[in-house]
Amino acid sequence: LEAPVVLVPKRVTEEDVDDGKKKVTVFFGTQTGTAEGFAKALVEEAKVRNEKAVFKVIDLDDYAGDDDEYEEKLKKESLAFFFLATYGDGEPTDNAARFYNWFSEGDEKGEWLKKLQYGVFGLGNRQYEHFNKIAKVVDDRLAEQGAKRLVPVGLGDDDQCIEDDFTVWKELVWSELDQLLRDEDDTTVATPYTAAVSEYRVVFHDKPDTYAEDHSLTNGHSVHDAQHPCRSNVAVKKELHTPESDRSCTHLEFDISNTGLSYETGDHVGVYCENLSEVVDEAERLVGLPPDSYFSVHTDKEDGTPLAGASLPPPFSPCTLRKALACYADVLSSPKKSALLALAAHATDPSEGDRLKFLASPAGKDEYVQWIVASQRSLLEVMEAFPSAKPPLGVFFASVTPCLQPRYYSISSSPKMAPNRIHVTCALVYEKTPAGRVHKGVCSTWMKSGVPMTESRDCSWAPIYVRTSNFRLPSDPKVPVVMIGPGTGLAPFRGFLQERLALKEAGTELGSSILFFGCRNRKVDFIYENELNNFVETGALSELIVAFSREGPAKEYVQHKMSEKASDIWNLLSEGAYLYVCGDAKGMAKDVHRTLHTIVQEQGSLDSSKAELYIKNLQMSGRYLRDVW
Ligand code: 2AM
Repeated sequence: LEAPVVLVPKRVTEEDVDDGKKKVTVFFGTQTGTAEGFAKALVEEAKVRNEKAVFKVIDLDDYAGDDDEYEEKLKKESLAFFFLATYGDGEPTDNAARFYNWFSEGDEKGEWLKKLQYGVFGLGNRQYEHFNKIAKVVDDRLAEQGAKRLVPVGLGDDDQCIEDDFTVWKELVWSELDQLLRDEDDTTVATPYTAAVSEYRVVFHDKPDTYAEDHSLTNGHSVHDAQHPCRSNVAVKKELHTPESDRSCTHLEFDISNTGLSYETGDHVGVYCENLSEVVDEAERLVGLPPDSYFSVHTDKEDGTPLAGASLPPPFSPCTLRKALACYADVLSSPKKSALLALAAHATDPSEGDRLKFLASPAGKDEYVQWIVASQRSLLEVMEAFPSAKPPLGVFFASVTPCLQPRYYSISSSPKMAPNRIHVTCALVYEKTPAGRVHKGVCSTWMKSGVPMTESRDCSWAPIYVRTSNFRLPSDPKVPVVMIGPGTGLAPFRGFLQERLALKEAGTELGSSILFFGCRNRKVDFIYENELNNFVETGALSELIVAFSREGPAKEYVQHKMSEKASDIWNLLSEGAYLYVCGDAKGMAKDVHRTLHTIVQEQGSLDSSKAELYIKNLQMSGRYLRDVW
């Protein structure tokens, strides 16, 4: 088995350049690389349009080491653009969190903001409640404090075609920026620009006879983070649904003994998994090169000068094509328009090239949305439909396939009960797409087919790391807690309850607790039923309330059960309870929020705006926490 080496680009900060030329700084807060890609694309084009200005692209985390430094450096900026993605429950990306907290909280930042001119482009998804919250907040706060907004905030919507949203916003930017950057007496028109397809330089090597994987990339670091995950074996794997179920939910335990990894109850684990071998087979066939090809990728030319436009590749040490496709290529997502253009540039059949270009063009927008986005056509399906488009490896990895990203799970154990294990509770993603393909989720399928240590010494493993969260039990165990988590939203609450049980066993007095859990049918998907009952029997949980959605004539969901328990919830909140929600953000968390609003309004005899304020205060004081996706 070839070992996955992990693919997270280490971002570089370009050198600070300021030699009397007009300077533009482009910041990004990115999780999967899209915001970073847009920031780079903006600069790439801006450089061609305005040769005399100096542009920098900067990762918000790399910009400053602390709050004071953010202020000190931002004071020196006069023209800045921000690309900011919003995640989960209206949260910033990891690399923008520090900047966002500093900028959005606390006092006015100061007079110096008045000389800043700026533009913000947000990356979000309209299906979520807090659509583009981070971009909107930053844009508003900048304007409120006197900075000059050059263009309206761009609200990129990943539910449709975010590349189009970016293109439209970019045109607004040019109409302002081109003027700002030009000398007053300069009447020339900005140089038109067509984006080039970026390409890595690829070097093929002879495959060594003894081809040993280098594990040093994944282990041996004192701190494990996204760039330095840690190899962890699968210790235990269990199916949580009964055989009658037409779905599947896996309980998986990673062994973290002797790894240096540690976690706290409520944290997340990031898992770097591989594509299934059937997917890799298909990708190999479509790429059309021998799977044994042993190669490395580079972002510089042979003489060491950087390749224009190439972003940093994953830390590919030389490896086989098969391994690169397994570990680094996200071939099951729908291709972006830029990927279609890269394929078009290498289609030997001109009709295929034309069709790909059309799909990527403004005129082909409806067809792109219909044939690719709505049909959930994967990159592999698109490549299958255009067999003459065989880009070289340097183009394939730089411009056609995005990087396979780590998947995040709420850890379902507590280190108080399982110090050497990280438990994951993962629902299988297995669905038929409108185009008729069966889509198997990369990581959930990997987990379902994982081989645990109990079954084989040659067990499954993955590079993982722990991402700290703010989803925490109250520091005082006597404070009551209300937990709402249907389906796999139960995960962190299992951790909470393990923690409370451990505290109880150690003689600590506990405040009361209610858990609202929801599933379809007691006999099918009531996951961890025995454990939950045990938490009640031992007093770690005061009350377990389960909504079964497919047992009776009408759907019963957790929020219906909450309404029945309205006065209990209100009383607990009045005693200072913490309220937690975990699970689906698009439906459940929204409905639960509305129900909470009604409960507060009715039980507290408040009008709607007072009820809203009450909930806002709960949120601000950290007593209403959501871990939603
Ligand atoms: P359903 O599948 O019968 O619609 C865990 O997935 C449980 O959450 C299931 O019982 C599911 O019911 C239920 N569920 C689905 N949508 C929900 C929503 N908007 N609010 C609360 N629970 C929901």
